[in-house]
Amino acid sequence: MEKLEQMYEGKAKKVFATDEKDKVIVSYKDDATAGDGAKRGTIVGKGAINNRMTNFLMQLLEKQGVPTHFVEELDDRNTVVKKVEIVPLEVIIRNISAGSFAKRYGVEEGIVFDEPTLEFSLKNDDLHDPLINRYHVLALKLATKDELDRISEMAFKVNEVLKAYFLKLNVKLVDFKLEFGRTEDGSIVLADEISPDTCRFWDADTNEKLDKDRFRRDMGGVEDAYKEMMHRVFGEQA
Ligand code: TMP
Ligand code: ASP
Repeated sequence: MEKLEQMYEGKAKKVFATDEKDKVIVSYKDDATAGDGAKRGTIVGKGAINNRMTNFLMQLLEKQGVPTHFVEELDDRNTVVKKVEIVPLEVIIRNISAGSFAKRYGVEEGIVFDEPTLEFSLKNDDLHDPLINRYHVLALKLATKDELDRISEMAFKVNEVLKAYFLKLNVKLVDFKLEFGRTEDGSIVLADEISPDTCRFWDADTNEKLDKDRFRRDMGGVEDAYKEMMHRVFGEQA
């Protein structure tokens, strides 16, 4: 497959056209941002870690019946995925209070919920990804009722699979963000990435943060946290 012109550059990834019209190549960068791009930096090695971890988890999810955009890993940073139209929503599942949830509702971080929660944000940096509800999504025609039902069902399924998987690695899956895409035939698939950029991972014994919160909160040890997650997932091969 041939990598053709760059179609798009996001904050953490670039997307390239290919000689197959229904496929694109995503290329993961080491660039990191927080606060909708207000804070910028580099996390050395992040691109390769996020690429490999995302691809591994997407294949795990496929085996459990969750359709994804994944096609083929080309190398450390580059992966072929199905070309999809991204539904402009950030779909966030939470198992434990943290981040914007704790701030918005004035509660501490670390409260374990009886049931996972789901929320949508509008994917729009200029508006700071505002929280959006189901009625507003329908009013703005961002997705249909059937698509929203399917997205919610898939997001909870992803949570069940990943929560159990990470617990085996002694990691609590606190919360995470997913994005979904529409394929040519109109079906919904899981897209984007699943990585320490988009998930909160806490060590199950110590609650040590093993994710991008170390960058967002200037805690130091960012690269080591990403490497630790890579080792837990891939063991010695990492
Ligand atoms: P939040 O608590 O800041 O709303 O974040 C919830 C989850 O979503 C957390 O695992 C980090 C992830 N996330 C992203 O992937 N991208 C973003 O832009 C933000 C704000 C959060
Ligand atoms: N995506 C966020 C940003 O726009 C970063 C984050 O908090 O993950 O900078």
